[in-house]
This record gives sequence, C-alpha cells and structure tokens, in this order.
Amino acid sequence: MSQSLLLGVDVSTTGAKALLIDQDGRVINSATTPLSLQTPHPLWSEQDPHEWWQGIRTSIRTALSNADVSAEMIAGIGLTGQMHGLVLLDENGEVLRPAILWNDQRTGSQCDQIRSKIGAERLIQITGNDALTGFTAPKILWVQENEPEIYAQARHVLLPKDYIRYKLTGEFAMDRAGGSGTILFDLKHRNWSEEILSALDIPAEWLPPTYEGPQITGQISSQAASETGLIPGTPVVGGAGDQAAQAVGVGAVEPGIIALTLGTSGVVFAPTESALIEPEGRLHAFCHALPECWHFMGVMLSAAGSLQWHRDTIAPELSFDQLVGEAADVPPGSEGLLFLPYLTGERTPHPDPFARGAWIGLTVRHHREHLTRAVLEGVAYGLKDSFTLIQEAGLGAIDQVRISGGGAKSQLWKQILADVLGVELVTVNTTEGAAFGAALLAGVGAGLYPDVDQAAERMIQITGSTAPSSATNDYQDFYPRYQELYPALADQFADLAKISSESQAESAPHG
Ligand code: XUL
Repeated sequence: MSQSLLLGVDVSTTGAKALLIDQDGRVINSATTPLSLQTPHPLWSEQDPHEWWQGIRTSIRTALSNADVSAEMIAGIGLTGQMHGLVLLDENGEVLRPAILWNDQRTGSQCDQIRSKIGAERLIQITGNDALTGFTAPKILWVQENEPEIYAQARHVLLPKDYIRYKLTGEFAMDRAGGSGTILFDLKHRNWSEEILSALDIPAEWLPPTYEGPQITGQISSQAASETGLIPGTPVVGGAGDQAAQAVGVGAVEPGIIALTLGTSGVVFAPTESALIEPEGRLHAFCHALPECWHFMGVMLSAAGSLQWHRDTIAPELSFDQLVGEAADVPPGSEGLLFLPYLTGERTPHPDPFARGAWIGLTVRHHREHLTRAVLEGVAYGLKDSFTLIQEAGLGAIDQVRISGGGAKSQLWKQILADVLGVELVTVNTTEGAAFGAALLAGVGAGLYPDVDQAAERMIQITGSTAPSSATNDYQDFYPRYQELYPALADQFADLAKISSESQAESAPHG
C-alpha cells in the first residue's frame, strides 16, 4: 500500500485537531474535539494535559474512520499547538499540575526577576525577546516560588504539543520554533542557553533535545497505536509552534514573504535569514520551523476580535457582511474618526495589559458605518505598527503578504489593509491553518519532498490578490495620528484599569 497520506495534529486552546491530507495538499478529512479552559483565579489560564491527549486520540480515530482510509497509508505525522504553555512532568512522566497556558497573566513579578537576574539587554541579546507573562520561563519560576512541593518533583519541562509527542512516541523532544518561545533559548544557536538556565536555576536536564520542524523525533509506540488506531513505527517529526506551522501552511517559508493572520488576534509573521532581533524586544524573534531560518512576529491581541466585539455590542442583529458592507461608502479615514483596538490590552508594539480601546474624534456626523470603518482601519493601523517595526529592525524588502484567517473573507477589509500597509495582499488555497503546516513538515521528514520550500511549492497556490488603491495616500495622513494616541493615553489607561479593578473588587459578592 503506498504511503502517501500525512497527518497534522494540533493541540490548540479551543480544540484538539487531526487533519489528514494527501501529498498534493488535498484535505482528506479533519476532526476536532473541543477542549475546556480553566481560570481558577483572575489572570490564570490553565488546561488539563490529559484532556488534550483524550481529545487528540478521539480526533485521530474520527478522522481515520470518516476518511475510511487505512492508517498504513500515513507516511508521517507532524505536531503543532499552542506555544509557550508549561507542562511539568515527574520522573515517571506523570503530569504534576494543570498546564499554565500562553494567555495566563500571573507572572508579572517573575518577568521582573528574569530581567534583573539576566539584565534586560542581555536577555534580548541571547533570546531575542523581553520577558513577557505569556512565555514559559516566568511560569517555571512561578511554580518554583509558589508551589515548591510540585517543583521538587519536576523532572521534565514540555510544551503542550510535546506532551502529545511524548504520549504518541514515548520520547521527550521539542521543535526549535517552540523552544525559542520559552525564552530559555539561545536564538542564534537554536538551542538551550546555558547562561539563561543557570541564571534562573533551572536544571538543563529537565529540558528535552530539540529538533528542526521536518526532523524525525520518534515513532508511534505500540501503546499509542492501540489507543489511536495509528500504526506502530510511523514517524513523528518535530513540527512547530502554531504560528510557525501556520506560516509554513501558507507558504511563508523564505524572507520577503510575510504571513498575516487576521483571526481573533492578528499576527504578522516575517521569516528572516539570520537571528535578527528588535533591540528593545518590541517584536518577538523566534526560530522558524525550517533549518537556518528565523522570524520576527508582531501580535495584536484583538484584531478580528475587535470587529466581533463591535458587532456583538452595536449591531448583534446584523451579519458581519451586512455590518461591514455599510462601511464601504465611508471615505478613507472615517471622516476624522480613529479607533484604538486594544480591547484586551496589547502585545505588539505596546506590551501593555492595561492598554484600552477607544474611538477618538467622534462628532454628531458619525453614524454606525463610520464606527465600523474606523474599527477596520484601526486594526489595519495596529498591524502596520508591526510592519513598521519589522522593517526598522532590518528585514529588507517585502515581496508579498499572504493573508489568512476569518477577517480575510472581507474584501473591504483586505482593501483597507492593502491601502494602509501599501502592499499587495494575496490569498492561498490552504485554509486548514497550523495543522496543515505540521502535516507539510511531516511530508518532508517522511521523504516525500526534499525540503520545505519544494513541499510548499507543490501544495500551496495563490488564489487571489488585492493591490493598494489611490486611498494609500489618504492613509499616510491618518496613520501618524493613530501612532500618537497610545503614548498620549497610556497613563490614563493604567489609571482607568486600576480604578475599575478596585471598583469591581468592591462590588463583588463577599463570603
Ligand atoms: C504565539 C502565541 C499564540 C499561542 C496560542 O506567540 O502566544 O499564538 O501560541 O495560539
């Protein structure tokens, strides 16, 4: 039987997904099992790794049986998933506590400690990144400080996807895209940094060997085969964190091709051919999923999430198409109205959990369609901030921007983005996100393709394009005004956040 199928496995925050594709990238079947999220305290965000494994087993079995194909046809398996999450295992490989996730915010003081122990500048020099609450290293310190009895039993540190790898293969291993997102990595040398580990007093032997995305890290064990329906011995490759896998899945695998994902959050992912860093750490700088390639990344927390909030709050009776359609006739700049999209705080370029949203410049002439257009434009300006930083940090020419995610369905939003960014946006045929990229990496590891570039060329085609229009010139005047707003308002945002959390605490039921 020819082994021509590939399996991508994605453990995201919302679901455990199994995606089967053929070697030309055609989707054979896909199954997702929803996952629950626990927030036992304000700022905490956790999940049970056992539930991930349960979900992945169910999804693999469902995808195999719905596709009605033999698991023997699977040439390789690629893993992807939420980045930065901390999974702690004991010496028997048992889970010690719920995983602390990428969007958990409890580690502010541990981030300060990391900066002071290593030196803020040195930290960015080695890891490419500042210490942010979402990253893995501060979470390890939090457990060290707050749960010493658990810390004492810890022997293995893994990321969510690598826990699934351990359950599938029995191997402890991590991909380098994910590894660099722990900020325990020497970005340039693509491996663990002895200097960082020893400064933070984290035992090096707790961390697994690391691999490039297409490298084989182990094989399906007989135990995992009996639990999933897969065949023992099927190779499992390194895979990648969700953002790198998403970029692979749209073909952003060389400098000059940028992946722009317009989902709830907005991500600008720019491959680089060396370990470039933004000196103030305002951009993330991580390893890409392919050898000798790195990337910058800007993350806006509420991109399509801003539009979703706007629709749900102002016009829940309208579809997105109806709401956005109204904004088409409003002139660029929304007649002097600007929107700040920091509805859930921000990450790039203002790493500030207290940043807040705003419409600025309202007059009685503004109607709902102006508010809507300002939201679409505000998100575009916020994404332009990441493009600006990436170019200032030395990326060079941008040849193409590949846009994906729910927001990419709106032609008006794509036009506004093309105009604000001043670049052509293209869409591609692949819509299965990170799981697709992970499956593509498996195709390279299994030897169906010589390298990631050639796999991407074979599987990914351009389906449409949106070029900048004459409105580009209008936006040159509005964007600098947008840029001035956050610095002018940051202190007020912090005060407002403080006052509102105090009044929430006062009005909360007691006892
Ligand atoms: C990337 C990031 C998110 C998570 C969850 O830096 O924080 O993309 O990986 O999806």
